[in-house]
Amino acid sequence: MANVKFDDITFRYGSHTVLEHFSLEVESGKIVCLVGPSGCGKTTLVRALLGLIKPETGSITVGDRVLFDAKKRVNVPAEKRNIGIVFQDYAVWPHMTVLENVSYPLKKQRRPKEEIRQRAMRALEQVHMTEYANLLPNQLSGGQQQRVAIARALVVDSDVLVMDEPITNLDAKLREEMLLEIRMIQKRLNATILYITHDQQSALQLCDKMAIMEQDGVLCQYGTDEEIILHPANRFTFEFIGISNFIPVEKDGKGMALNCGEKIPYEGSVPEEARSGGYELGVRPNDIVFDDASPLKAKVDSRVFLGSEYNYFLSVGKKQIRVQQSMLDARTKGVANEGETVGIRFLNTRFYPAKKGAETA
Ligand SMILES: Nc1ncnc2c1ncn2[C@@H]1O[C@H](COP(=O)(O)OP(=O)(O)O)[C@@H](O)[C@H]1O
Ligand SMILES: [Mg+2]
Repeated sequence: MANVKFDDITFRYGSHTVLEHFSLEVESGKIVCLVGPSGCGKTTLVRALLGLIKPETGSITVGDRVLFDAKKRVNVPAEKRNIGIVFQDYAVWPHMTVLENVSYPLKKQRRPKEEIRQRAMRALEQVHMTEYANLLPNQLSGGQQQRVAIARALVVDSDVLVMDEPITNLDAKLREEMLLEIRMIQKRLNATILYITHDQQSALQLCDKMAIMEQDGVLCQYGTDEEIILHPANRFTFEFIGISNFIPVEKDGKGMALNCGEKIPYEGSVPEEARSGGYELGVRPNDIVFDDASPLKAKVDSRVFLGSEYNYFLSVGKKQIRVQQSMLDARTKGVANEGETVGIRFLNTRFYPAKKGAETA
């Protein structure tokens, strides 16, 4: 399969700019998750790749084939683009057998009968489903149905597979199974996959790399999941991927304080730009530890055991924050009890300008 390159794509619906100077490269043989909130322009980007809409600027290349180039007036028609697609809520057709489902894109291309059969069987072989060829979808498990949808996307000899929210409406357990399924097939075929989702959890489980898209079609970060979690480029990424607490910080005499409805002295380090006000401290729940020696005190409002961690709500002044404690930490240091006052320490803090209109306590 081939790499996919979007370069400087701008697209508008009337006066509404959906994508603006959007660039992204998906390397060959990798699975890249494009993650962003609903309405940020993900499906629009997919439609541009498929050739269903025409951007105003930029180019789209797959391998060494230029599919679209606004300047050079190249615009390869949709049916010649060789892009396999698995759409949202658009799994397999229930009234067709597995083989008929997979044959369908080739039938539409009016290929000869025998060729259709051979290519459909080969696509089924790629997803290890040949022995199910004559069954109907309701005779298959959810995971097997997903494999059929993938075979149908592969059958046109795709250079790249695009999956646009393929599992959004499934229950959690089935989603898990599907993600494993997709990952296995991707590895076996060394496929290039652009996987679109608004769900950061499935993106984390699946991807080699993640592209984070902000509202208004701006790419705000592209990197491995570790880079994105450990070094978020901005507040949007920090807030969108993972759970976060925010507490306003302000000057307090010579030092700094947390504004938690009341001023609470804060002795941790605060960067220069955040010292003059208007900033918030951001900290992840799993970057907060209990430490009786710490001057920063909190009251334990609730504790819930979640199987592999403890989840707490603590009050710091009048502000409630969330803390996650690993089992290891709970075993070695003990848990905190509801009603108790404990010392806490922030291990990993970030400082961002406060959002306009955000509450301050
Ligand atoms: N056919 C259309 N006509 C006008 N606006 C559209 C059309 N399709 C999508 N939009 C708008 O473009 C924006 C991006 O939509 P979309 O790409 O579907 O977002 P996503 O897939 O990230 O949820 C949204 O604001 C949406 O309302
Ligand atoms: Mg969409």
